[in-house]
Amino acid sequence: MSAPPQTGEQKPLYITTPIYYVNGLPHVGSALTTVACDVLTRYHKFKGEAVYFLTGTDENATKVQDAAEKAGVSTQQFVDELAVAFRECWDSLHIGYDDFIRTTEPRHTHAVQVFFERLIERGHVYLDTYEGWYSVSDETFFRDTDVENGIAKETGKPVVRVTEENYFFRLSAFGDRLLEHIEQNPDWLLPEFRKNEVVAFIKEGLRDISISRPNRGWGIPFSSDPTKIIYVWVDALINYLAATGWPDSPGWDKLWPADLHFMGKEIFVRFHATLWPAMLMALDLPLPTQIYAHGWWTIGGSKGGKTGPALPHPTRLTQFLIERTGMTEEIAVDAQRYLLCREMNFGPDTEFSVENLLRRYNNDLANDLGNLLNRTIGMMTKYYDSVTPEGGLDAEVGEVARVAVLQYEASLKEFRFNIALEAAGTIVARANKFIDEKAPWSLSKAANNGDSAAATELALTMRTCLEVVRISALLVLPFMPRAAQELYSQLGLSEKFKSETFEATEWGGLVSGAKVGPARPVFPRIQELTVDEETLLKLGSSYTGNSASLTENDPTTLNSTKTNSTPKENLMETITNTTPTTQPAEVQSEMPPGTLLPPPISAQEEETLINIDEFMKVQLKVGEVLAAERIPNADKLLRLTIDLGEPEARTILAGIAEYYVPEDLVGKKVTVVANLQPRKMRGIMSQGMLLAADVDGKASLLLPDQNTPIGSRVR
Ligand code: MSP
Repeated sequence: MSAPPQTGEQKPLYITTPIYYVNGLPHVGSALTTVACDVLTRYHKFKGEAVYFLTGTDENATKVQDAAEKAGVSTQQFVDELAVAFRECWDSLHIGYDDFIRTTEPRHTHAVQVFFERLIERGHVYLDTYEGWYSVSDETFFRDTDVENGIAKETGKPVVRVTEENYFFRLSAFGDRLLEHIEQNPDWLLPEFRKNEVVAFIKEGLRDISISRPNRGWGIPFSSDPTKIIYVWVDALINYLAATGWPDSPGWDKLWPADLHFMGKEIFVRFHATLWPAMLMALDLPLPTQIYAHGWWTIGGSKGGKTGPALPHPTRLTQFLIERTGMTEEIAVDAQRYLLCREMNFGPDTEFSVENLLRRYNNDLANDLGNLLNRTIGMMTKYYDSVTPEGGLDAEVGEVARVAVLQYEASLKEFRFNIALEAAGTIVARANKFIDEKAPWSLSKAANNGDSAAATELALTMRTCLEVVRISALLVLPFMPRAAQELYSQLGLSEKFKSETFEATEWGGLVSGAKVGPARPVFPRIQELTVDEETLLKLGSSYTGNSASLTENDPTTLNSTKTNSTPKENLMETITNTTPTTQPAEVQSEMPPGTLLPPPISAQEEETLINIDEFMKVQLKVGEVLAAERIPNADKLLRLTIDLGEPEARTILAGIAEYYVPEDLVGKKVTVVANLQPRKMRGIMSQGMLLAADVDGKASLLLPDQNTPIGSRVR
């Protein structure tokens, strides 16, 4: 964490996430907001701008107190544990926050009390009786017209009737000023359609709002009247100011106002776009520059999260991605960051689906980016002994890259992360097609036969591919910092990576003479794209079932639960309270004592084992390639004639045309599945299959010892 800027220093861009309620664990909903802010932070830093990124936890809510009570532990212990869980989760997602504020910290409590005293001094507060509805779940006061049959119409959450002597804030006095500010600052509230909701809400008529609640022993008490605590939303919003050091630390105004408050839509209209700016106006404090709200992850159309249908816990999702792909943890984290930002629409709600994430992974990361990298490095090794040649770059691909960078920037300006990534993907797709068009394997052959034009063209082709990988690495960097570094390293540019800035995305920055490789698959392809109900359940942030692979180092396990001092069953109950009703009862009861947080799923549980008899049904044999040729109009297939020691050679079609030059295969011994049902492709009957390893989406043939006799059985 870094300190806020000091007096005299340049004002950094100040970006905030909401502070999350600690009545449950983080999930991919809170992660989406946090990752998106981290992406913005990294992007602006990459552009050379100073950024200060704040996140934190909202701990004084009644619902947090209720959750702790239900768990049978002190509220303080409960919030301490969950604040750690949030922090660890963000750390595991490589969130580079500068500050993590907790609303139970003295710096926050002090700022809230001072803020309140100043509101009173300026005459914005009066004492009255509130009679109406309160939703603990939403921590919101509702009027009669907002409620039907004991449910808040806006949120679908239960309300209770309360009569309380409360302090009121004269919110009604700020409607016109708010409308004027919206009018004069067209980019203040984003996106546009949500701004319209705010305008409609204000025009309906703002009413004064209760800003206190009876003191039940948790929350920030009034300095002058300890029978009351400050309403949790007033308390929570002030975190953004408290983190700057306001009111006492010199230099707080070097950070304030915030440049961006970023959040989900449910806390936009009432709180961030109305109450908060009115509170700031009341103290003549500058307003935040932009306030943006994205849509939700939904499951079956309902908001997913702590109280709705379960969303995966980010750490578990990382482990799941590792299990499905075999990639490193660092890259799996990056992949998750990419997938969340690429799959979410950001404007409207988006239905969440793990299977969609897996499909997106295979498409964008394994097949497109990963494949481009592998092909490029593989060919560089073969044709240039891994040293980037001198030569030109393809102007047309360069133009695609230039347009993509412009689109990427424009999209990030509007917080459309998915569109920014889509733009980045267009260059990768173009480069993969470019390889097919140029057929470097043919150019290489011609060059070896003395064709100098082919030699020039081959250098241009390979350099263009390297340049696309380089620019793509820089564009995905804010989303996937570790993967970007790995791509740069495979380009032989590790040293350069550290000092690169966004300007390096300009076409033409490739360095000749760099030693590329060695090829290391970054994004292995996922073979199994379906995810069963039980696995989804176990990924959920509220899942509490047993798992064989729970270890001392389980990143989702809270510290205090590793000791014997916590009444764990009660803590568990709190978390299971939010578990979807579809969860089988026996799964819940298997929870090991001493575990507040859910364990990761085990790899073994996912595997389907076969016995030796089942394996022996597959006849694997060694064969020799007698002939190999391309098939007209089939970019991916080669037609092979293979001798398996049988009376007649077999014809086998193999999808390896992108990776092997036909002539190179002739005379090679290969491994063949000999008892596969024959299958017609492109009008040709294929009589078997070649075994190949899937290396990041690229086929790598399994070649037996070349002295193995033809027809040998493999087992
Ligand atoms: N504590 C308040 C915020 C106070 S800010 C001064 C709060 N906390 S929360 O834990 O409920 O977090 C809400 C935020 O988490 C949302 O605004 C959004 O950013 C994120 N999300 C929670 N569930 C989400 C989805 N299902 N989908 C997308 N974002 C989600 O409200």
